[in-house]
Amino acid sequence: MDGQHELILIVDYGSQYTQLIARRIRESRVFCRIVPPQELTSALLREIRPKGLVLSGGPASVYQQGAPLPPVDIFEAGVPVLGICYGMQAMAHRLGGTVSRAAKREYGKAPVRVREADGLFKDVKTDSVSWMSHGDSVVTPPAGFVVSAKTTNTVSAAIADPKRRLYGLQFHPEVAHTEEGGKILKNFLFGICGCAGEWTMTSFIDETIEAIRRRVGQAHVVLGLSGGVDSSVAAALLHRAIAKQLTCIFVDNGLLRQGERSQVEETFGRHFQMDLRVVDAAERFLARLAGVTDPEEKRKRIGEQFIREFEAEAKRIPRVKFLAQGTLYPDVIESVSAWGGPSATIKTHHNVGGLPKEMRLSLVEPLRDLFKDEVREVGRLLGIPEEVLHRHPFPGPGLAVRILGEVTEERLRMVREADARVEEEIRRAGLYRKLWQAFAVLLPVKTVGVMGDERTYEHVIAVRAVTSLDAMTADWAKLPPEALERIANRIINEVKGVNRVVYDISSKPPATIEWE
Ligand code: XMP
Repeated sequence: MDGQHELILIVDYGSQYTQLIARRIRESRVFCRIVPPQELTSALLREIRPKGLVLSGGPASVYQQGAPLPPVDIFEAGVPVLGICYGMQAMAHRLGGTVSRAAKREYGKAPVRVREADGLFKDVKTDSVSWMSHGDSVVTPPAGFVVSAKTTNTVSAAIADPKRRLYGLQFHPEVAHTEEGGKILKNFLFGICGCAGEWTMTSFIDETIEAIRRRVGQAHVVLGLSGGVDSSVAAALLHRAIAKQLTCIFVDNGLLRQGERSQVEETFGRHFQMDLRVVDAAERFLARLAGVTDPEEKRKRIGEQFIREFEAEAKRIPRVKFLAQGTLYPDVIESVSAWGGPSATIKTHHNVGGLPKEMRLSLVEPLRDLFKDEVREVGRLLGIPEEVLHRHPFPGPGLAVRILGEVTEERLRMVREADARVEEEIRRAGLYRKLWQAFAVLLPVKTVGVMGDERTYEHVIAVRAVTSLDAMTADWAKLPPEALERIANRIINEVKGVNRVVYDISSKPPATIEWE
């Protein structure tokens, strides 16, 4: 794909904002990729000829031993460069400027005053607020550079060498707190790099359909459909490309949310008319889970059983050569990121990873260049219903990890019914899209209650609702008391076997989003 599109290359020095830089650039309709520092060479620049280069921020200090520094000859390659925070310091250091530890760490909002209102700062307000987060600063810019913006504490809030098209910002233009950040990035992309901004999801769909057809030829493709956004969009895209050469396998493991199976059948079987095979495996999963209470053991057994079921079904399809997966760009970056970035520590949950080995299938991953919001846009353009595109994430092991203790049919019923009420009330309160997830957990304890004149001794449901941007960190949602009250009342009155509801007010970290 790189050969066809104008491309901005982002070098990830480990900033928590690297993906945000990429998303901002994509929002400007310019395609970009993130690479780890060790991949940045002048040979790479000659080969892929990006329109521009962004050096991200990062936790290192340029004088620290082993600090990742860009090779000096990349600045001679004629490619415009924007260094952000550490990226600016690394560029300045490489080109002969001086960087040193500031007397005072600058963190948070800072007023910036522009001194050179052209190039990066074209049409940018002279005084605005920007987001800073740094200890080191550029004290003396390299020869050829001017200081183009200042803050009270930082002499070089921005530096520029317009002749060589090299620019540096001490603050972060990619974060929303930087008032003029969007304009500054656009100036870099369009004014300085000369991008045209032609990356749209419509063009992505057309090109990807062509690419899938070329790759697959007459062969058959199998896809594990989970009902989640990623596999749904991948299925719709492949279906548009190769229609009946695609078979989707949906494994009903009996651990699904209420209505999930029928929604998949409705959307993909009836609406899209796909070759959809639904495997009725609930009994076999439950049998495998009998007596198991250890969370990891549950996950392991569910994962193994899934592979077995999937494989058995896939073997029935003649001429299968490809396995399609809804891998997204953040998963790809996570597996390549090398230098201490946040990405390095992220745990990923692969449900279909390592699938049928002896079938020797090649992977087709049509979404591997996209971020989640782009995937939703593709899904929308392909006609997938909004409910599917915006359904909250759901773990592969399903309700099994929301039942503490043994998974039985009766306990599944309780948690499923409670969960459906949580979802309904969250939707009714207009909060569904504002939350990352909201769900019910069945606890392995019973408590005493009173209903009418009767003493009861029944189960407890914990309600969990969180806000999050990426599931790496999450905050418990400050739900309105009226919504909590309705949720509790409905669960206690409508779900047989439950007499108490509690609300989980732990954030992640140190708790996780799921309870197991
Ligand atoms: P935790 O509980 O680790 O969850 O804070 C982070 C996000 O990942 C989801 N999750 C899973 N997703 N397979 C998945 O596909 C899994 O085994 C799994 N475990 C947790 C969880 O729902 C949350 O969105």
